[in-house]
Amino acid sequence: MGIRSQELIESVLYNPGNDYCLKDVDIQILADSYVLSALSKSAFQYLKEQWWLQQRREDISYKDFLTPLFKSYLSSLKFLDRDSEKVPQFKKLSQRAEAFERDVLSEVLLRAQSEQKEFLARSLSFMKELFLREEGDQRGVLQSDGHKGIELYRTFDGLDIIFELNYQLDREMKITQKKERLYEKAGVGVQSGYSTILLALAHLEEHYGLSGKKMVDLGSGYGRVGLVSALYCEEIDFIGYEYVAHRVDVSNRAAKNLELEKSLLFVTQDLSLSDFYIPQADIFYLYDPFTEETYHFILKQIVELSQLQRVIVVTKGNARAWLERISSDNNWSSPVFIDESNLCIFDSEEAK
Ligand SMILES: C[S@@+](CC[C@H](N)C(=O)[O-])C[C@H]1O[C@@H](n2cnc3c(N)ncnc32)[C@H](O)[C@@H]1O
Repeated sequence: MGIRSQELIESVLYNPGNDYCLKDVDIQILADSYVLSALSKSAFQYLKEQWWLQQRREDISYKDFLTPLFKSYLSSLKFLDRDSEKVPQFKKLSQRAEAFERDVLSEVLLRAQSEQKEFLARSLSFMKELFLREEGDQRGVLQSDGHKGIELYRTFDGLDIIFELNYQLDREMKITQKKERLYEKAGVGVQSGYSTILLALAHLEEHYGLSGKKMVDLGSGYGRVGLVSALYCEEIDFIGYEYVAHRVDVSNRAAKNLELEKSLLFVTQDLSLSDFYIPQADIFYLYDPFTEETYHFILKQIVELSQLQRVIVVTKGNARAWLERISSDNNWSSPVFIDESNLCIFDSEEAK
């Protein structure tokens, strides 16, 4: 990570009177600056809440409170470790970080598409490091005890601007049918978070490899899973099926703008239609897409495929319950739980 991104954001946060110009800043430094600003925004929010809880204790100074945090959750933000005797104005700092994040993203939108692609790849790689560290921090924590440290699930949603994922289209959506579960008007709230996608990819890459693998998103929404996967590994062969045509159009436009069409395709398709057959693939991704009937129809096909070849199924949310049944009926190996169990990865091969 370039040192200049830290200097830049430090100056923005602590010397707000200083003007900055991002026009000539290298795209890699913009990527690091984006991640650091979005992270700082969440960090100040977190510090504000935690310090509020600690303040009642007389035996603890702000510095005592802060020092251990710089060794753990704030380790990427060591440059904030200044004036640690003085309690900062969290709200102002958070607002400055957010305004800087917006400025960085606006600058990136003015850059050539090749640079935007470089920006996305670099940002995602830095974000992955942060998510893996967050994941490590949650190990051994009981779900009932809540999340430990800064929660990053929605921290980087701003990246959607570069993909041009326009959720506004959902607001104008007319409900034309009642049978399938289409999340009318739901927008960003029902797209997998960047943390979920990157943690899934890190696991898949480590255990199965991604290059040359065929991956299918069943109910692909605005295409985040596919877009991130293809940027993560261009040798992946990814197809996303989605009922709602405007979501598919947005996904395909983003793939084209980023020149990912060779590895990435989105198709408008109602997966409940009796003439639909899932394609042969190595990895299927399901984030709560279906009604009960459609789950039965699609999962039957996945089980049939698993009798011919190894199949990996990544589930997010309640889709997991459906796969748990299948996995135990067919003697698949034990699933792996990630992302505080939001993500569950099933493997059709029996445990050795
Ligand atoms: C919760 S969203 C998940 C989006 C995406 N997979 C992700 O993880 O970001 C589920 C998507 O499945 C789509 N869906 C539901 N029923 C469908 C069907 N019968 N055929 C195709 N897509 C369907 C919905 O329209 C919605 O966009």
